[in-house]
Amino acid sequence: MSIEQVEAYLEKRRRDFEDRLKELLRIPSVSAQPDHDEDTRRAALFVRDDLRASGIAAELIETKRHPIVYGEKLDSPGRPTILIYGHYDVQPAEPLEPWLSPPFEPTERDGNLYARGATDDKGQMFTHLKAIEAWLKTTGGLPINVKVLIEGEEEIGGENLEEFVSKNPQKLACDYVVVSDTSQFAPGAPAITYGLKGLAYYELIVHGARSDLHSGMYGGAVANPCNALSVILASLKGSDGRILIDGFYDAVRPLADWERAQFAALPFSEEVFRASLGVTELVGEAGYTTIERKWARPTCDVNGLYGGYQGPGPKTVLPCKAGAKLSFRLVPDQDPSTIRELFQNHVRKVCPPGVTYEIIDHSGAAAVLVSVDSPGVKAASRAIEAGFGKAPVFIREGGSIPVVGLFKTKLGVDTLLLGWGQNDDNLHGPNEKFNLADFHRGIRASVHLFAELAKDRPESAR
Ligand code: BES
Ligand code: ZN
Repeated sequence: MSIEQVEAYLEKRRRDFEDRLKELLRIPSVSAQPDHDEDTRRAALFVRDDLRASGIAAELIETKRHPIVYGEKLDSPGRPTILIYGHYDVQPAEPLEPWLSPPFEPTERDGNLYARGATDDKGQMFTHLKAIEAWLKTTGGLPINVKVLIEGEEEIGGENLEEFVSKNPQKLACDYVVVSDTSQFAPGAPAITYGLKGLAYYELIVHGARSDLHSGMYGGAVANPCNALSVILASLKGSDGRILIDGFYDAVRPLADWERAQFAALPFSEEVFRASLGVTELVGEAGYTTIERKWARPTCDVNGLYGGYQGPGPKTVLPCKAGAKLSFRLVPDQDPSTIRELFQNHVRKVCPPGVTYEIIDHSGAAAVLVSVDSPGVKAASRAIEAGFGKAPVFIREGGSIPVVGLFKTKLGVDTLLLGWGQNDDNLHGPNEKFNLADFHRGIRASVHLFAELAKDRPESAR
């Protein structure tokens, strides 16, 4: 049996693969919303049953919240083992108003499939499931050993997977983890991602008087939590884009000259990028290019703000409470728990008098960098070339996939980040999409990845 026959299977099944993906996309598996807990479970069952239909022994592993799907086929002794990781949960679709077609009714327009989860991560994750199916239905076996781990809490930074990975290093042991949950560099420029940012996410709540007050009667005499919060937030960054928290940059690994040169050599126009976003100019940390800021420099952003009167028309109120959700994207070698301390010290120092505050931790993850010259990366490059007709470029990304750090620390393995998405896929936003040609190219690349990795001896046999 040859890989050509596996590829012929892909051609024959194109429509069916699309239809199955649409079925999965119709399930509103929004992990954050308890109203959707049943749907989220249905998505897990869909993934389990899809694996079973292909001939993979798969089961649901219950957690305190959303189940993990685990499957394996380990009958290629002496060959490498990969662990395919992905997630079947999605971000909330709200606000619904900007969606041109309903988020859970997958709709094709201009060669793209629009739906919540299309690119993040159902469509991307599904490429590997279909590659498995193609190998098994064509040849009856897989050229390498495959473990599959698809979780349902990625979008809520769930701790249940962390616990599962920590407690099951033997079960999950592998030579490489394979993840498709990132993007290509550009259309026609597939990429291997070798760096992801970490994340430190907080909610800062400022409290003032016992209750809301008349702003004329009390204003000027009583501290206003909205004003105080603004003072704190404004103190976080200088006009040169530098974060002003003492010690914040201490552990930041400086960009190497070779890496700056490599970033600069990528075909990227700051002007096209600016115009595509509809902003008047690009801003950020002085002394760095846009790509460097996006991929390799730490950032600080307010993700949400509340406090005071939000209804129509004016209300002259002096609010008793204000809050901000804010996050730091971290780079190697910043440690999320150190950042927590530094942030706390900073707020203590700058918080104006007359208010109190609390800091709630939402999620923390360290940044990751993976080797770019492992045999796995070389195999993945050849596979991408076969699937996409073009060799990949090597990039970093500003997003985070917290479990990738755990795969390194708990299992001691590198992750191959093979993203099939595009930068304008609008993940987490309205009108999320996934290009259908990329979907099929991704499946083809995955089919080739298995074959390319089979040419290597496993790490354990070296
Ligand atoms: N697929 C994304 C991560 C991503 C996006 C990587 C773009 C590279 C480029 C993932 O599903 C995600 O959204 N992660 C969250 C992590 C958070 C919820 C802990 C993120 O980055 O905000
Ligand atoms: Zn996401």
